[in-house]
Amino acid sequence: MGKALRLDKLLSDTGRWSRKEARELVRSGVVCVDGTVVRAGESKADPETQTVTVRGERIGWQEFVYLLLYKPAGYLTATEDAHAPTVMDLVPEEYRRSGLAPVGRLDKDTTGLLLLTDDGGLNHALCSPRHHVDKVYLAQVEGEGSQADVDAFAAGITLGDGTKCLPARLELVEPGWCRVTVREGKFHQVKRMLASRGLPVKTLKRESMGPLGLGKWMKEGEIRPLTVEEVGKLRESAGVDGADSSKYTK
Ligand code: URA
Repeated sequence: MGKALRLDKLLSDTGRWSRKEARELVRSGVVCVDGTVVRAGESKADPETQTVTVRGERIGWQEFVYLLLYKPAGYLTATEDAHAPTVMDLVPEEYRRSGLAPVGRLDKDTTGLLLLTDDGGLNHALCSPRHHVDKVYLAQVEGEGSQADVDAFAAGITLGDGTKCLPARLELVEPGWCRVTVREGKFHQVKRMLASRGLPVKTLKRESMGPLGLGKWMKEGEIRPLTVEEVGKLRESAGVDGADSSKYTK
């Protein structure tokens, strides 16, 4: 089912123009809806059934924005903070939208893959342990893990305060390094699980979340929108209905 959106919103939703620039574009007479020039920003178009062009170029439209950030250390996973920089400071202007929020949370000193989206339903599903989305972390630890630690993770760790964790996977990579796969996102979970086994964490990096990884080429601080295929796979992994790449117009 289609829905009509204000033209200036529809254009700024593409991430290519700010809302103000979009209004100016419309006013300048270069925007057409189904071939007819439209000059009023408040006029509406249905991006799923109508063709919107800017200077003759057909505009793709996306209902939600999905961003993959390689979070560096030193940034809070929050939408705002009075004192410290937040991951939102790393989002370029063209991707900022109301409702854009991180999916789950990484500690200030944790690096790695962090998703941000304004798709509240998918955000919720990805964070829910019911949906079994694996999060994989590479940890540098003090000391060396053992098979007993691997077994304890597989059985489900009980933290110092009595909190029970779901079964998780511990892989001993090399002395001082291990990889942990969890499906939950309790506060400081990986650090607390490892600490409970006498393996305090020195550094922590999230390598992947469900079907998404950082890839070889991304650098700390970089951010990129997900491809339509990645959004589809992510929705599938979170058990959200209709791997919904249909929200995109070509
Ligand atoms: N577990 C932690 O302890 N910290 C993180 O940042 C993420 C998972």
